[in-house]
Amino acid sequence: MIIKFRLDGRDVSVEVEPNELLLNVLRDKLGVKAPKYSCGIGECGACTVLLDGEPVLSCLTLAVDANGREVTTASGIKGEEAEMLMKAFAEEGAVQCGFCTPGMFVMSYALLHEKKRPTEEEIREYLRGNLCRCTGYVNIVRGIEKVVEMGGKK
Ligand code: FES
Ligand code: FES
Repeated sequence: MIIKFRLDGRDVSVEVEPNELLLNVLRDKLGVKAPKYSCGIGECGACTVLLDGEPVLSCLTLAVDANGREVTTASGIKGEEAEMLMKAFAEEGAVQCGFCTPGMFVMSYALLHEKKRPTEEEIREYLRGNLCRCTGYVNIVRGIEKVVEMGGKK
């Protein structure tokens, strides 16, 4: 079947199988490489995207579920708050690797939309599904805290 949706601010249409996963369609059919294929079983968060503004694991989401909706990947997150977050991530050394960062970024952005002033504990809890296998979470938490200190979402 053919599905249509908004992807990072543009309209797309693509032919998919009923059992095809959103992650594979984004990466292999639509050429959007920000969400990463890592564990493929919902354990790591590297494939996180926003579906109508809510974070979902695209490796566990059927592509047909995106029909008529809005999908935003790390590449499509724009605006003042996203810029603050990018700057804070860069300054705090939170951009650690290309694998986990897109998912971490999407989740951090979603958190700051849900909660203006999350505590360190709340940040760690919110990011618990996003795994880093090598470096750790200190700089990422600091990056989010920096946005909070700067005033967060206006
Ligand atoms: S690739 Fe989706 S959670 Fe790991
Ligand atoms: S997995 Fe990306 S920095 Fe550890």
